[in-house]
Amino acid sequence: MKRVVGLIILFFLFTIPFVLLVSFQSHDYPYDYEQLSEDERLVIRFSHVVGEDTPKGMAARKFAELVKERSNGYIEVQVFSNGTLYKDGEEMNALSRGDIQMIAPAISKLTNYVPEISVYDLPFAFHSLDEVHEFTDSEAGEILTDQLKEHNLYAIGLWDSGFKQLSNRIRPIQHYDDLKNLTMRIMPSDILAKQFTVLGAFPKEYDFNAVYYELQKKSVDGQENTLTNITSKNFYSLQDYLTISNHGYLGYFVLFNLDFWNSLDNDVKQLLTDTFLEVQQWEWEITKKLNDETLQKIENCQCIELHYLSDEDINSWEEKFNPVYDFYIRKYGDQFIKELPKFRSDT
Ligand code: SIN
Repeated sequence: MKRVVGLIILFFLFTIPFVLLVSFQSHDYPYDYEQLSEDERLVIRFSHVVGEDTPKGMAARKFAELVKERSNGYIEVQVFSNGTLYKDGEEMNALSRGDIQMIAPAISKLTNYVPEISVYDLPFAFHSLDEVHEFTDSEAGEILTDQLKEHNLYAIGLWDSGFKQLSNRIRPIQHYDDLKNLTMRIMPSDILAKQFTVLGAFPKEYDFNAVYYELQKKSVDGQENTLTNITSKNFYSLQDYLTISNHGYLGYFVLFNLDFWNSLDNDVKQLLTDTFLEVQQWEWEITKKLNDETLQKIENCQCIELHYLSDEDINSWEEKFNPVYDFYIRKYGDQFIKELPKFRSDT
């Protein structure tokens, strides 16, 4: 009898911890993982270069909060903003090495990897953010993001920063000829460079974290960026003129290191994907709101001379930029350009 009781006790002693271990690993998130060390949680380091109060900064924080809540603390997305962990020119290599698992670079910064992706940089390629989303969801958009996989990058989705505006310290920009001879900071993209050279301006590439310093040193006269980036990094305090031109799109592919993504269990991937898609929708809404509010603030502060392009101006600028489209087609063909909503006959 004693032997039977002993065997029963032994059975429970071994099976209970085993059952607990199995349910812990099946990721149905029943426990409070706050008590676990970093080694026992799933930690995702997410580095980006902009301020906390920009659309990207806010969305990154919201994504981290929701993922933590929904996994009961098992998945921890650690967000490093403002280039505090890796700077603009460093984050891509850090992602490839696996030192971080997530970044959200401006699409222009991916043109070194997938040059055709510079279709997003074409001036006046999109007339609304909805058009950008439509293109990204199209077959052409999917082919482009799929090509990132060849570089060990998995794009989980797209966040907006908005449309770019032009600032400079020399003169008001109303006509495209006003840009002649101005030196303008750009992100690394041959299409952005061409956009300025066709106007007789001089493009210069600088990392985002260097822009304030280069404007201050006057090594560039001006720059193009979204309003939330211009104000959050205080570029406008060094510039005298701002033109609301909405001439180009600035957005981000939110990327995981592909090997890391593939190593995740399916239920973790599902949780991250569902949460991301919800945050993406929210990010698209707040981008519009934040850019509108920022414009209001700039109008009220009277701290920089503001100019707006009329519809007529925009038509003449668009025509002037035709050679940039020809340049793109010569280099990369028309496979992607012809799928832009503005060229599709069915939209
Ligand atoms: C960013 O929004 O991440 C930076 C854009 C830039 O480099 O101008």
